[in-house]
Amino acid sequence: MPESFDLIVIGAGPGGYVCAIRAAQLGMKVACVEKRATLGGTCLNVGCIPSKALLQSSENFEETAHGFAAHGIMVEGVTLDLARMQARKGEVVSANVKGVEFLFRKNKVTWLKGAARILAPGKVEVAGETYETKTIVIATGSDSAPLRGVEVDERRIVTSTGALELPEVPKHLVVIGGGVIGLELGSVWRRLGAEVTVIEFLDRLIPGMDSEIAKQLERILGKQGMQFRLKSKVTGATSGKDGVTLSVEPAAGGAAEAIKADVVLLAIGRRPYTEGLGLAEAGVALDERGRVRTDAHFATNVPGIYAIGDVIAGPMLAHKAEDEGVAVAEILAGQAGHVNYAAIPAVIYTWPEVAAVGATEEELKQAGIAYKAGKFPFSANGRARAIGDVDGFVKILADAKTDRVLGAHMIGPDVGTLIAEISLAIEFGASSEDVARTCHAHPTLNEAVKEAALAVEGRAIHI
Ligand code: FAD
Ligand code: NAI
Repeated sequence: MPESFDLIVIGAGPGGYVCAIRAAQLGMKVACVEKRATLGGTCLNVGCIPSKALLQSSENFEETAHGFAAHGIMVEGVTLDLARMQARKGEVVSANVKGVEFLFRKNKVTWLKGAARILAPGKVEVAGETYETKTIVIATGSDSAPLRGVEVDERRIVTSTGALELPEVPKHLVVIGGGVIGLELGSVWRRLGAEVTVIEFLDRLIPGMDSEIAKQLERILGKQGMQFRLKSKVTGATSGKDGVTLSVEPAAGGAAEAIKADVVLLAIGRRPYTEGLGLAEAGVALDERGRVRTDAHFATNVPGIYAIGDVIAGPMLAHKAEDEGVAVAEILAGQAGHVNYAAIPAVIYTWPEVAAVGATEEELKQAGIAYKAGKFPFSANGRARAIGDVDGFVKILADAKTDRVLGAHMIGPDVGTLIAEISLAIEFGASSEDVARTCHAHPTLNEAVKEAALAVEGRAIHI
């Protein structure tokens, strides 16, 4: 007799492992299938966690080499031990993935090791065994999108996975794609000494985010030494003994130019991963972009099969996948699981950081919603001055009639942490007046958020 479960979750990334744990907490007998040798998915193994480890290490390196002199701390002869830096990153990842294994044991979630294939609703095959289950949740995530003419070998032409593993600092790193991965990992290698050129198809960086913030980020990263080729497309790449030669053309068409690189990072987006899952045979419908189609309760068109995370529509973010994992587990337990898509923050961990939640000005204009904007620069914040990080600003958007907070867009020191206050405000339906009248400790960076809320009504104090 095959072992049977209440729920089999396929994929142990932030969507899948969180869903499995929440379902077990709610009393279900749960298995989670993962084909990778460790739990935690893209995020813990080759995404959020290793990239943030390297961002921190490279920031420490740059700060020690160049940043401390302004504070009167003179450090000479700073050298890089990249092997040690990479080993530390490995230790950080290892501690995190083992943590998930511990949580599975604690919550009695069975890890089925191997690749899962859905044989039919209620039947999943893993490593030659068939398991029965009342419900299946697909949480198979995403992988990096390919580009015709640019063959990834994860050595000279790499995706984010290879870019996290480079054994030496490239002299010239060319990044294809001025999005989140390109700018975060481009920052890592620039700080460690690489010349970095970012080739972006559009006329701006980080599409989808506030355009004023995108311009500031381009200016600040440019000042740090990153080079940008906007409105440009890569049409081919040839790998040779002495590096890679890229063929680059204006996006609108025109004469091609050759650009040489030691390493090329391809980062033009990610696509849903459903390979070998047996979705076509099981009759699970996909949308026009290959994502598993779901309704508002994460149900696919096949009864008993649900999907969450990067493999369905919406932002490809770990916390979005986690919240969907909790919501679907609660729905399966008969509760009212729910995700508020208007309050999902997005953070880019460059320095300065970029953070956003809710609507952009462009989106509000397009939707014909009248809004007021309040802005406050970090140059007028006492703590930012004390730290020595005055680049950037906080912008809060509120409904012109009701004053309800509709969005916030920030660039500056630690804004990835500051954004949580506005996510909470949106979640609670707060007004900009509510944020403005909340007492904020002094001197903190958070005071820039309060002042931006005050600025919505033109009554900021320190500007
Ligand atoms: P995944 O994490 O992709 O997990 C899916 C898992 O399913 C994988 O482990 C895969 O092996 C497994 N799987 C697939 N098919 C099968 C099968 N048939 N059988 C068994 N197992 C299977 N997001 C953030 O919010 N913040 C960040 O800072 C951030 N940084 C990132 C940095 C990088 C370099 C990258 C690439 C991504 C980053 N992301 C970040 C995005 C984040 O990693 C994803 O949004 C998140 O991992 C999605 O979670 P998921 O559970 O949907 O899928
Ligand atoms: P992205 O969607 O953020 O950016 C891709 C960029 O490539 C865009 O600017 C796009 O215009 C450009 N582009 C597309 N085709 C191109 C071409 N042919 N030539 C040149 N440019 C081209 O995708 P990215 O950076 O690969 O990241 C994938 C996803 O991973 C992100 O969207 C995000 O969801 C997730 N992620 C999140 C992080 C975070 O939360 N801090 C960090 C890293 C990844």
